[in-house]
Amino acid sequence: MIIRPPRDADDEQIHEVARLAFGGAREPGPDSLWSNQPGWHGLVAELDGRIGGTLKVRDYQQFFGGTAVPMGGISTVAVAPAGRGHGVATALLDAVLPEMRDRGQCVSALYPSVPALYRSRGWEQTGNYERVKLRPELFALLPAARLVMRHATEADLPALHDCYLRFARTVDGMLDRSTAAFQLERLLELDIVEVAPGEDGTVRGYLTGERREGDTLIIHDLVADDRETALGLFANLGRWAGILTEISLRINDPAWWQLLMTQPMLHEVRNHPWMLRVVDLPAAVAARGWPNAAYLASTSVDIEVVDEHAPWQAGRHRLVVDGGKVVCEPGGDGTVRLQARALGPWYAGSADTAMLRRGGLLDGDASAARVLDLLTGAPRLPRMADSF
Ligand SMILES: CC(C)(COP(=O)(O)OP(=O)(O)OC[C@H]1O[C@@H](n2cnc3c(N)ncnc32)[C@H](O)[C@@H]1OP(=O)(O)O)[C@@H](O)C(=O)NCCC(=O)NCCS
Repeated sequence: MIIRPPRDADDEQIHEVARLAFGGAREPGPDSLWSNQPGWHGLVAELDGRIGGTLKVRDYQQFFGGTAVPMGGISTVAVAPAGRGHGVATALLDAVLPEMRDRGQCVSALYPSVPALYRSRGWEQTGNYERVKLRPELFALLPAARLVMRHATEADLPALHDCYLRFARTVDGMLDRSTAAFQLERLLELDIVEVAPGEDGTVRGYLTGERREGDTLIIHDLVADDRETALGLFANLGRWAGILTEISLRINDPAWWQLLMTQPMLHEVRNHPWMLRVVDLPAAVAARGWPNAAYLASTSVDIEVVDEHAPWQAGRHRLVVDGGKVVCEPGGDGTVRLQARALGPWYAGSADTAMLRRGGLLDGDASAARVLDLLTGAPRLPRMADSF
């Protein structure tokens, strides 16, 4: 087996391996060829002179503590059927870890179909990507609101993106959608891109989505600066009553889902959990925001990281909290021991140290470990509104 970066000439074989794994059109469309896509790096596994395995890393930035952190979004992990069960996917993951580190991608996220594979290499379940299907009549139970809206044009896109960012930076786990992996103008290919204009060319809220065949409307983003705007967007969705039986809403903002929306008494939320791994601990600590640190007295926690697949971050570190800043320095007494898989949930704040201990991912001094929780505000639920 040879693991190497893909070449343009591999396009067709990569498409075939990915198609066999995930389905899709037999003939690749121009956008589905790797060499035509921006904002990624990747690896392929050559088996007997043919492409037998693929792994792509999308260049993303993910908000933690209000700051966008360089993140490698792993996708298209696929192995040709005959090559499965012989460690090809594992070898691709092993090879991509140092590559992400070299590129400054200090954390990595992925949507797993086989968690065991990724757990074995240090990723752990961390956040949610959720959708809910609601009857349009439900929106009529909310306080009535009429919002002036219009279909977006290209000129609206920067203001629409600003509106997204005002919300996204307040929810840990959201992508900033500012890297080359996103082409903002492609939003206009959607059926629904409806903005609520604010003052001076700003956008105070918007909806994006698709009217597919059948009775369902798929809403991707429902983003609003404030309550009035959110209620106006809901009211607009309510106007589909009578023709549609269902609206599928992606739950991006817990503010409207938990505090404004009338939730049906019994309802089903479909979740696709995502996993996170810390790839370069000192860089990841330096990159995220630590809003709680401003309220903590100067202190430090000595940790020992067990990480055989990212050996550059294995061993002892001291997390120093001082003057509202957090720094990860080498050394210390290793008072709290964390397995590689503990780092993602700790970093994102999705699991507190009591949970990590019960999950077999952390041991050592319990009171020192509490500082790790205070830093992130754990436990709290990170969310992402983009799947890949
Ligand atoms: C998932 C896939 C990439 C695994 O490739 P592979 O080269 O066979 O994986 P490896 O041999 O490196 O597997 C390592 C470990 O991962 C786990 N694993 C791999 N495939 C698994 C599966 N389908 N179900 C459950 N666990 C699996 C096992 O723990 C395995 O160890 P074991 O063989 O000792 O039991 C491959 O089966 C595939 O292409 N599947 C279809 C596409 C897909 O699901 N991709 C993942 C997207 S997130």
